[in-house]
Amino acid sequence: MAGDESRSNPFSRRTLLRTSAAAGAGLGVAGLSTGYGAAQPVRPAKGESMMGVAFEAHETVRVGIIGVGNRGASMLPLFLAVPGVAITAVCDVSADAVNRAARAVTDAGHPEPAKYSAGEDDFENLLRRDDVDFAYVATPWEWHTPMALSAMRNGKHVGVECPAGTTVDELWELVDTSEKTRRHCIQLENCSYSQNEMRVLRMVHDGLFGQVLFGAGAYLHDLRELLFSKTYYAGQWRRAWHTGLNGDLYPTHGLGPVAAYMDINRGDRLVRITSMSTPAAGLAQYREQHMPAGDPTWNERYVKGDATISLIQTEAGRVVQLAHDVSNPRPYSRLNQLQGTNGVFEDYPARIYLEPTHSNDEWGDFAEFADYDHWLWKEVGPGPGGHGGMDYIMLYRLAQTMRLGLPPDIDVYDSATWSAPFALSVESVRRNSAPVDFPDFTRGRWQTPHPGVDSPKPA
Ligand SMILES: NC(=O)c1ccc[n+]([C@@H]2O[C@H](COP(=O)([O-])OP(=O)(O)OC[C@H]3O[C@@H](n4cnc5c(N)ncnc54)[C@H](O)[C@@H]3O)[C@@H](O)[C@H]2O)c1
Repeated sequence: MAGDESRSNPFSRRTLLRTSAAAGAGLGVAGLSTGYGAAQPVRPAKGESMMGVAFEAHETVRVGIIGVGNRGASMLPLFLAVPGVAITAVCDVSADAVNRAARAVTDAGHPEPAKYSAGEDDFENLLRRDDVDFAYVATPWEWHTPMALSAMRNGKHVGVECPAGTTVDELWELVDTSEKTRRHCIQLENCSYSQNEMRVLRMVHDGLFGQVLFGAGAYLHDLRELLFSKTYYAGQWRRAWHTGLNGDLYPTHGLGPVAAYMDINRGDRLVRITSMSTPAAGLAQYREQHMPAGDPTWNERYVKGDATISLIQTEAGRVVQLAHDVSNPRPYSRLNQLQGTNGVFEDYPARIYLEPTHSNDEWGDFAEFADYDHWLWKEVGPGPGGHGGMDYIMLYRLAQTMRLGLPPDIDVYDSATWSAPFALSVESVRRNSAPVDFPDFTRGRWQTPHPGVDSPKPA
């Protein structure tokens, strides 16, 4: 069984089933008690810190994939393309998806992986195998924490899709379990490995921006068609969250890179967040325009405000702005902005203004700073696959750290910190934008320098 931790999660399997039934009966889920309470004080440690702890070296990194839907299936060939990686097992509640994934592995010339599709708890059997070093979790959000906890308890390192957890309790449980089991829990935040983000990070660390003051990140992505598709998301899980919670439901793509610019958990820390949401209008309007009368979606009430805007203050007084909107027409953007005392970078499209090079309110060309590309982009990138190649770079680097026995770039403290705005923004919105404290998942070690995404090239 996945364990009892998920009971505190309003979107646990049981609740989600109840939720769907309630939504189907026209009740919605807005009345659910969320358990998204205010941040708790630092909890007593149950093990030693995992900060800077190296992987044991692996000649081959043997991967078990849990969830081979859209994301898992698209990451599978990238895992296979990374030198020294084997996929030994795949799991999904859909046997078709598992068979397709296994075929993709054999078609690429690799041995057939073990297959698990005997129900929603069969992932536990994959995790009990002794030929899996690393579990990759690409399932709906409500499964991320239970699967990651089980992976660590079964002796596996785990990489989780975004976000790592959806409540503060879940995030503490991930930290406690990583420390106790000595297994890493990694938020697989691919945007941290995007070329622009890595170049800006190098420039920050080389001092080009001066003192870093402000950063902005976002997930602004028109998902309306996919959210209402009957076939894209398994069981249409992603739209269900919009019927239950009002906050930033996908914070890590925007926050991960900005947290690296600000050395969060490596000198600074996130202290408090305040969040506001607009009215929830976009999904209802889309339904009006596209869904026939009598469609089950007409029983749903969307409570997630279309845009959620959050401001986060750091211990050093810096400010991070986060935005989330997947319900309105607009071009894709993660904002990706950084202001320092020497100038500013803004993405979408990329432009830069740094004294003394730029003046007269005229943006400069970011391409002229290509020399600052991270070594991963100079020597490995862009690689195969989507998202501009950042997915491959992330997996390449993950496998490199595991093969060489280095610490991971992203540890459980980063995973918890970057995911926390999910729960904390819901709480702040619920309390009329009251500031909500961030837990210090590092338990006071946030000033400790240790490896991060701006990795030096291994010798
Ligand atoms: N990092 C990125 O750029 C990125 C991009 C897309 C999606 N994602 C994330 O990936 C995750 C999956 O998203 P998706 O778009 O692939 O959704 P999806 O619905 O296409 O895939 C989820 C898969 O999980 C399977 N599943 C559900 N419960 C399961 C269980 N108990 N055991 C085994 N399998 C189970 C489903 O059958 C489905 O195949 C989400 O967390 C999403 O946020 C990340």
